Amino acid sequence: MAHPTLHIPVLLQEVLEWSGIDRQAIEPRTIVDGTLGGGGHAWHLIKKLSPQDTLIGIDRDGGAIDRVTKLFDAELPKDSCHVRLIQSSYRDLPNLMEEHRIPKADCILLDLGLSSDQLEDRERGFSFRVGGDLDMRFCTEEGISVRDLLAKIDEKDLADIIYQFGEERFSRRIARTIVERRKSDPVQTAEQLADLVHRCVPGSRIPGRIDSATRTFQALRIAVNQELKHVEDAMKLLPNCLTPGGRLLVISFHSLEDRIVKHAMRDNEHLKVLTKKPIEASEEETNENSRSRSAKMRVAERCS
Ligand SMILES: C[S@@+](CC[C@H](N)C(=O)[O-])C[C@H]1O[C@@H](n2cnc3c(N)ncnc32)[C@H](O)[C@@H]1O
Repeated sequence: MAHPTLHIPVLLQEVLEWSGIDRQAIEPRTIVDGTLGGGGHAWHLIKKLSPQDTLIGIDRDGGAIDRVTKLFDAELPKDSCHVRLIQSSYRDLPNLMEEHRIPKADCILLDLGLSSDQLEDRERGFSFRVGGDLDMRFCTEEGISVRDLLAKIDEKDLADIIYQFGEERFSRRIARTIVERRKSDPVQTAEQLADLVHRCVPGSRIPGRIDSATRTFQALRIAVNQELKHVEDAMKLLPNCLTPGGRLLVISFHSLEDRIVKHAMRDNEHLKVLTKKPIEASEEETNENSRSRSAKMRVAERCS
């Protein structure tokens, strides 16, 4: 595929295997990719589907929907399955199914977090390596940007966000410095924020260790997108969108998300957990794609 995306889908073979897509199907099937991103997983799922089947792709980011729409229009063979791409949150799937008369799904995939396309976009400010204006919203029409949040948030609330969502030990010091500085020179760019964090965290940039700004960036991104709330809501609602035998596959990239997914799958009486331990990337994959190193996939099946 001539793919105008920088994003390499993680655990691709494992997603295809665990999706159950190769099982014999008499009825037309519905597969939902709730985090379309660059369309990598979706593309490979579509290749396994028949013309009577449907793939629903959802993303909060309208730019992702536009990019993948163009790509699929240009590249998908005419006899591919039906494809419907919708800008929304995956937690809205029950409403979308009703509104668009989408039948219950045989498989729902959530590949959480952000895509490499978003990470590399200077207008979004997701990465301190790439830099740019500190926005970090998946959907730029919703909520407030990190820049606006930092301009007005109470110091204690900011410290709590950095501690809870970034597990950063120096959260209070970082919050205090941001608040002190905003009187004269507010933090507006990813470069400024990274520089400030590096000054607050001792031993910040030791080669071979994760850059200390990573934790603060993660925390602020989770906060402005209310990411954990979307995951929690989805884990309650999405099992009801599956047919009996339908599968829910969730790939997470940090322990806060993985914990929610693990407990929600275990505690739902309609789900049978198929992966006793989360599935992780092979050594070969982690060598080729460093993003896959922290990926954990859990799979559950709707039993009734
Ligand atoms: C890791 S990427 C997905 C990559 C995709 N699987 C691929 O193969 O290209 C995560 C995507 O999820 C989207 N996203 C994050 N939270 C979302 C939510 N609550 N609902 C829908 N999409 C969301 C992000 O905008 C991003 O495009």
